[in-house]
Amino acid sequence: MERTPFSDLDSQPSEMMAMLLAALEAMGRHPEIRRVRRTAMEALHPQPGARLLDAGSGAGDVSRWLATKVGTGGEVIALDQSAATIAAAVQQHDGSNVRYMTGDVSAMTLPTDSVDGVWCERVLQHVDNADAAIAELIRVTRPGGRICLIDTDWESLAFDGVPVRLAETVMTDVHGRLTPKQLDMGRTLRRRLVDAHLVNVTATPVTCLFADPASAAVVLPMVNPMVPADTWPTSPGVRDKWLAHVEAAGARGDFLAVLTIWVVAGTVA
Ligand SMILES: C[S@@+](CC[C@H](N)C(=O)[O-])C[C@H]1O[C@@H](n2cnc3c(N)ncnc32)[C@H](O)[C@@H]1O
Repeated sequence: MERTPFSDLDSQPSEMMAMLLAALEAMGRHPEIRRVRRTAMEALHPQPGARLLDAGSGAGDVSRWLATKVGTGGEVIALDQSAATIAAAVQQHDGSNVRYMTGDVSAMTLPTDSVDGVWCERVLQHVDNADAAIAELIRVTRPGGRICLIDTDWESLAFDGVPVRLAETVMTDVHGRLTPKQLDMGRTLRRRLVDAHLVNVTATPVTCLFADPASAAVVLPMVNPMVPADTWPTSPGVRDKWLAHVEAAGARGDFLAVLTIWVVAGTVA
């Protein structure tokens, strides 16, 4: 599978790395992403004293939030394959019960049955073999522990207020280039957990609404004028025309984008 920035953050030039880390943090503050995360927190329902794994923890903001739920008697392991990302997360450490480590979600050094629960947000869309990664998450979770997977369904992305044909052309070009290769990951999560024999599987599609381009740009790279033009797979003319239409829709007040992010959880039998 072709590598995308989030599948190999440490290989990014430092400027791009800084931009991607800032983007992750901005996403975490976005009201729609916060809504997705509240849904996930309900699905995981962590207990005080629990030992949790935040797999693919990025900036570590969720790890620190989880730490408030498990309290001083619990622990959260923030694991990410990117050393630079873990270093950035450590810099924001707030003294809570979070242990930061680098590691590949598909081959972790954590012992079998060593955690009570797992949070894995917007990571599986970037890995080569999502089922192998899920098997590894199940291996480290004790029987009765809960696994919560959160991932985007990029094929659900739809716009209004911009020319339909132009939007179709741009999405055909940018999907798998500005977005991860695995466009349908979110909707496949329920099947993957059922096939892996988890029980009490719940699946909640959260459709995020972006009613202006600035809000959308935090989550959707294809409406973000700050995404470097040389990373766009479309011709510069198409990119500029598209972004001009997006801006005009924003100025008229009729821009709209929707994207479904799935929250899927299951219990290890
Ligand atoms: C889109 S970010 C999401 C980060 C965080 N979960 C969040 O929601 O803010 C994807 C993260 O997954 C990490 N990642 C990608 N592939 C990974 C792997 N095989 N093992 C561990 N982490 C991985 C990336 O380094 C990046 O930090």
